[in-house]
Amino acid sequence: MAYRSLIFFAILTLLFAACDSSQRSGSSVKDRNLARADSVLALMTLDEKIGQMTLYTTDWGSTGPTIREGYEEDIRQGRCGATFNSHTVAFTRRLQEIAVNESRLGIPLIFGFDVIHGYKTIFPIPLAEACSWDLEAIELSAAIAAREAAAAGLHWTFAPMVDISREPRWGRVMEGAGEDPYLGSLIARARVRGFQGDGFDNADRLVACIKHFAGYGAPIAGRDYNTVDMSERTFRDLYLPPYLAGIDEGALTVMTSFNDLDGIPATANPWLLRKILRQENKFDGFVVTDYTSINEMVNHGYAADDQHAGELAVNAGVDMDMQGAIFQNHLKQLVEEGKVLEKTIDDAVRRILRVKFELGLFDDPFKFCNEEREKTNIFSEDHLKAARDVARKSVVLLKNDQNTLPLSAKTSVALIGPLAADRDNLIGPWSGSGDGQQCTSVLDAFKERAAQSGFILTHAKGCDVLGDDRSGFAEALRIGRQADVIVAVVGENRDLSGEAAARGDIGLPGIQEELVRQLVATGKPVVVVLMNGRPLTIPWMADHAAAIVEAWWLGTQAGPAIADILYGDYNPSGKLVMTFPRHVGQIPIFYNEKSTGRPYDPDSKWNSKYLDMPNAPQYPFGFGLSYTTFAYDAPAVDKRTFTLNDSVHISVKVTNTGSRAGEEIVQLYVRDLVGSVTRPVKELKGFEKIMLQPGQSKDVSFKLTAADLAFHTADMRFTAEPGKFWVMTGPNSRDLHSIEIELVD
Ligand code: NOJ
Repeated sequence: MAYRSLIFFAILTLLFAACDSSQRSGSSVKDRNLARADSVLALMTLDEKIGQMTLYTTDWGSTGPTIREGYEEDIRQGRCGATFNSHTVAFTRRLQEIAVNESRLGIPLIFGFDVIHGYKTIFPIPLAEACSWDLEAIELSAAIAAREAAAAGLHWTFAPMVDISREPRWGRVMEGAGEDPYLGSLIARARVRGFQGDGFDNADRLVACIKHFAGYGAPIAGRDYNTVDMSERTFRDLYLPPYLAGIDEGALTVMTSFNDLDGIPATANPWLLRKILRQENKFDGFVVTDYTSINEMVNHGYAADDQHAGELAVNAGVDMDMQGAIFQNHLKQLVEEGKVLEKTIDDAVRRILRVKFELGLFDDPFKFCNEEREKTNIFSEDHLKAARDVARKSVVLLKNDQNTLPLSAKTSVALIGPLAADRDNLIGPWSGSGDGQQCTSVLDAFKERAAQSGFILTHAKGCDVLGDDRSGFAEALRIGRQADVIVAVVGENRDLSGEAAARGDIGLPGIQEELVRQLVATGKPVVVVLMNGRPLTIPWMADHAAAIVEAWWLGTQAGPAIADILYGDYNPSGKLVMTFPRHVGQIPIFYNEKSTGRPYDPDSKWNSKYLDMPNAPQYPFGFGLSYTTFAYDAPAVDKRTFTLNDSVHISVKVTNTGSRAGEEIVQLYVRDLVGSVTRPVKELKGFEKIMLQPGQSKDVSFKLTAADLAFHTADMRFTAEPGKFWVMTGPNSRDLHSIEIELVD
């Protein structure tokens, strides 16, 4: 028997009998697993319990995965119950064998990893995927990521990241779903469904982790890890909903954030972890810290030393310590000194063991270790096809003067820019086990098309993403002048976004804009393809480029997807989920702002505006063009007044007025005209993606109930207030038609 611990098996057998009877009596799977967890708990020493609350990373050496000797011994001694960054079947099997065959109780390990937008087949970065507004595609992308990762022995992903952010300087916006709580909540749900599916019976799903709880997306000045300070109302109305949506969808774990919130670090914040998470929202999974965030409370000036930090974290509701070794080093003493109750430890361990039971690891610790699946389920044709599909849907067309795009298959093209032939950056940050060299670059994809269609294709790099070497400009300009159209692929290197990658200036880095200016000066039409992980400030290009395609980092299939868009095989349909400022001085900038007492008026000095730039962004939330055009009629409603228990149906007729079939994301916004607290000038409340043939019209309908209009009122009740509302429909958050309705008591 590979699974050594016979005593353990005996106990489990007894337990199964108990479970059987509880099954007959109709208790839930969760209750049964909690009962099973309790039976294991009863066998454990305090040290072993603390071991279950300890999570360590493993490393990746040049020849494959490695583990520090000390951690391996910790697993053997029952001092470590989970690892992360340990992947591949061979490696996870090796560690699992130590845990189940060499530790006293043989409790299986859980293996976590940051599977954020793919494991080996890399999908677009989450911010890009969110621009598809396509919940099914997003769910599928998460499901494929889970399928591949689970085939590599993994059980748990540190995703989805659901932090709302209005801060494009913050590098981690690339990992989230943008600035809007409504869309962000739907995407959080889709990602949790994709990762966890209906459970782990087939060992092809991962436990999801909602992160970073909470408010991590609002660091002051956009600097990663920085202080977060906002009113409770703003927090509850705008930042909290996606976390709660993910939890409601069944995510089994939550990760705390590095930041402090109103002075209390999130990792020791009982208001967040006990009140909001467990009491108000009945979260019953386990809470893991972010990397060493317990230890960091000493730097925060919130804990006197490591032991004090551990006491604060566990008493606030943290169940598992990621990498900090604080629980391992201090928790026992804290219990012995009476500063932490053993019951607190038991509750945490029960929750962790329950997840291990949900995964089926006690029944078969090697359930996710299947060499055959590892060969067939990763980087398959199907997965690549899905990645290309999502990549095309994630692209946002920002500008297209005089129908520069799509390109004709006969036009000669000069493909220029530091990212045109690049593969390594296409996978973006947090790219799992992805390998940039397995991506198809834009140049690769264009070469394939040129070979098929016979158009002349030339290529020059021009310059690097960073630095000031202009020696490549001459060649770039030479080929640019000879071509019919210039395609300039520019943007950020992937390490310019992501964790610890805040930027104070979010323009195009290096001398890339200078290159684009010189290309535009040739008089040839310049199509700018942007690759980046955050909104960029591009006012000059917005005025002078012939076309701008926001391609983000689209993953393994980036090149083919971009070529599909540029040649019109796919008509772009993505819409921005974060506002693009004109200038960094406008940040924070977001569509759902308040009116103020002196709303913007270009003709008056004494109102809320800048002297040296407009208030309006470069591109608003929800914006994105198509190769066709759409006309919107004014919205119609089935009634002008409705009551708290009633609903209003809104319909809007949308017509494809261009000459190509295309998809359009029809958006619904609401403004609450008078409230017990001031209300945003618009809030997204619905959307629908429709496909229209040329000349075709569709009536898109939405239903609004009073619940959709709820917010935290002056007395902090979450409810809708009677009064007048504007209902607005249109193609983005700026260009809207409105109609007034009234909610009556
Ligand atoms: C730190 C990051 O903030 C978090 O998102 C990630 O999951 C952990 N490191 C583990 O890699």
